Amino acid sequence: TLLVLDFGSQYSHLITRRLRDLQIYSELLPCTANVLDLSWKPKGVILSGGPYSVYEKGAPHVDWTQLSQLDIPILGICYGLQEIAWHHDNKNVLAGEKREYGHAKLKIEKHKGEAAHVDKLFNGLGNDLDVWMSHGDKLSHLPASFSIIADTPNAPFAGIVHGTKPYYGIQFHPEVSHTPKGIELLRNFAVDICMVRQHWTMEEFVGKEISRIRTLVGEKGQVIGAVSGGVDSTVAAKLMHEAIGGRFHAVLVDNGLLRQDEAKIVHKTLTNHFGIQLTVVDASQRFLGELKGVTDPEQKRKTIGRNFIDVFQEEAHKLEKAAANSPNAGDIEWLLQGTLYPDVIESISFKGPSQTIKSHHNVGGLPAAMHLKLIEPLRELFKDEVRILGTKLGIPEHLVWRHPFPGPGLAIRVLGEATEPQLRIVRQADKIFIDELVANDLYRKTSQAFAALLPVRAVGVIGDKREHGQIISLRAVETTDFMTAVRSHFDIENRTFLDRVSSRITNEVEGITRVVYDITSKPPGTIEME
Ligand code: XMP
Repeated sequence: TLLVLDFGSQYSHLITRRLRDLQIYSELLPCTANVLDLSWKPKGVILSGGPYSVYEKGAPHVDWTQLSQLDIPILGICYGLQEIAWHHDNKNVLAGEKREYGHAKLKIEKHKGEAAHVDKLFNGLGNDLDVWMSHGDKLSHLPASFSIIADTPNAPFAGIVHGTKPYYGIQFHPEVSHTPKGIELLRNFAVDICMVRQHWTMEEFVGKEISRIRTLVGEKGQVIGAVSGGVDSTVAAKLMHEAIGGRFHAVLVDNGLLRQDEAKIVHKTLTNHFGIQLTVVDASQRFLGELKGVTDPEQKRKTIGRNFIDVFQEEAHKLEKAAANSPNAGDIEWLLQGTLYPDVIESISFKGPSQTIKSHHNVGGLPAAMHLKLIEPLRELFKDEVRILGTKLGIPEHLVWRHPFPGPGLAIRVLGEATEPQLRIVRQADKIFIDELVANDLYRKTSQAFAALLPVRAVGVIGDKREHGQIISLRAVETTDFMTAVRSHFDIENRTFLDRVSSRITNEVEGITRVVYDITSKPPGTIEME
């Protein structure tokens, strides 16, 4: 295992991601972590980039005495390089005359006849390298005992190495895709310098995670978890069931804001297909009652969130009582959450010297209210890895590749007050849109698609009659991270796709006289309408 110490760079998590692509396991910790206190011994350390200047007051620093006691190879990237230099010669870093941002050509300097480790970092990468720079500071001169292994016209110390110890610093970012051979450099460091084995596979992950869950929960312990029909909760539930079978209880809260037939689909998959114990709680009247007269989007979210916690807790108490009467099982002490790695990173990344590091255990509000211990089997995985895992666990393709669906459900897709008749309309229109996307082989090409109902009316002619009906707005976007998005441009062969969807919706959904397509990018729009 490699240790990645985070100094707050936007790219830090990419380092762990690239290592995973190399089938190498690594853990990301804030740069302030006590490295001698870990329950495992890292074989190497990578110091990430960061937005600070090492000489700046309050800039984050590692405890170099501790770090060097580990006696393992160290690679500093960008701020990490400055940090290594800082600890070897306090005055070595100067503010750059100009920020350097973008592509650079790196020249690799060979050192024949020096210590064996010196040339290992760039071994096999050729004499020149296209690299990505993103920094404000650079080294003004070489720290004592270091030599240059790479330079650019702009940065004479773009790569440095210690003469006797395996300490390396590089000014560029090998973890971003703009440094094409960056992954080979990371491989050189991890495999040839740190001697880490490349054996992280999904099969291994499943085996290890199942035994970890069994040890945690014990022979009799029971686990409860909410499922939504979404990818993450379905995969987490399946994994939990493989680990402890009937001692895992899944709960689906039907809040009346779900998509067409959603509760039935989840029940069919989890119970009929996989044999998971599932309780479907029909709380739709309670939610719709609480949403009466609520038109503000944030208030809708809060109302739904609060009621979800209440309903889930009531159900947990019922299951606990039932469990107490079963002779072979202990108490429900655990809560399953489908937390993914990006959420974990968000909570453990280094947030700057003055900020406290928040705990991801508070995500969603549920754990805080429940006094249950958290179990998060997906906490090391990225979304695409969860999909690979889901496929390995035998979850059908159409579920594994489902678009995200927001927790507040269709309530934020009925603009204005979400009433039962309005929800029925948006549900029907949404089903037509999604069915057509699937039928035309477009579903997997869009990241998220849905129908929303606008709270205004427009004139139309249905049959021979003038109708003052409502408007459905269709949204289909392409994105990788859901932070930015562009609308889907249905290509030439699907030129008439939206016409067909429009025609079906106006014909089949009562009360709709008009269909529009939302062409707003994010930003400035968001993906959802509310
Ligand atoms: P926005 O609308 O913020 O959406 O561009 C980005 C992604 O997040 C989903 N989303 C939510 N998910 N609770 C959720 O669980 C919410 O309140 C919520 N709001 C938006 C949205 O569907 C999209 O995938």
